[in-house]
Amino acid sequence: MITTYKEKLEKNLESYFNIEKYNLPKEFPKEIMEAMAYTTLLGGKRLRGILCLEACNIFSNNYEKALPLASALEMLHAQSLIHDDLPSMDNDDLRRGKPSNHKIFGEAIAILAGDALISLGAQIILESDVKNKEKITLEYLKGAGVFGIVGGQTLDILSEGKKIDIETLKIIHKYKTGALFESALVMGALAGEANENEINIIREFANKFGLAFQICDDILDVISTSDIMGKTLGKDEKNNKATYVTLFGVKEAKNKLTKTIKESYDILRKNNIQSKIFEDILDSITEKIKE
Ligand code: IPE
Ligand code: IPE
Ligand code: MG
Ligand code: MG
Ligand code: MG
Repeated sequence: MITTYKEKLEKNLESYFNIEKYNLPKEFPKEIMEAMAYTTLLGGKRLRGILCLEACNIFSNNYEKALPLASALEMLHAQSLIHDDLPSMDNDDLRRGKPSNHKIFGEAIAILAGDALISLGAQIILESDVKNKEKITLEYLKGAGVFGIVGGQTLDILSEGKKIDIETLKIIHKYKTGALFESALVMGALAGEANENEINIIREFANKFGLAFQICDDILDVISTSDIMGKTLGKDEKNNKATYVTLFGVKEAKNKLTKTIKESYDILRKNNIQSKIFEDILDSITEKIKE
């Protein structure tokens, strides 16, 4: 099922970068669409899109209606990666196994491509005929903005080189990474017409999952390889970032990850949410940090 989701999502996502369909003047700068398409279509695990489709499927037994939302989320995610890699942010030349956006298109176009991806995502949601469009757009915008990724990235940058406590680190992870997973899962659940109680459960799961995901990313920055991850590793230490590893060391970070994965499972079990896809994704995270 996960492969089907991924294939359908990939096809849907590609369709928005077919410049012919927009009826643009011949003077329109195609370069901006090329830059937007470059990072977005380079691949990646498509986790946010897949989680959105699965959340929709759980509550409505239909995932296809959430495809435009999943594409919008992958655009927003690509934006967060393009801007995260900029020289003034994490200064990373490698993303998804290829040169980062600004290495190919230059910084100015990379910034503009990121901006345009956020708004194209919102446009796609509003042009779709999904149910609960207003609530869904709100979730998308919250995840993208100051109460989501931007707030988290700001605290991440301001914390460089500082000794911060665990509570502050949890807030960084909740906003810079968890917020987009929350948007993804809640948007899918809303498209599947989940009720308020179900949305609350999904939100709780998303927050726990988001934390687990970023703890894992912090660990992999130290123990994985650039070939596997497709990005430069060891850069958290180089950039004096506050991470679970810099705060606790690899061993304790792994323990905390195992605990967070278990708590994510518990939320699903306690609320009787059955999803092979959620479980497979949780298991794949545990698998990644095994010796
Ligand atoms: C990378 O996310 C950014 C983080 C939140 C750590 P992913 O690891 O999901 O990146 P892709 O989409 O697979 O490239
Ligand atoms: C991930 O933080 C958060 C966002 C990209 C928004 P990282 O800086 O750890 O992500 P990677 O390791 O560069 O993918
Ligand atoms: Mg970063
Ligand atoms: Mg980074
Ligand atoms: Mg990282």
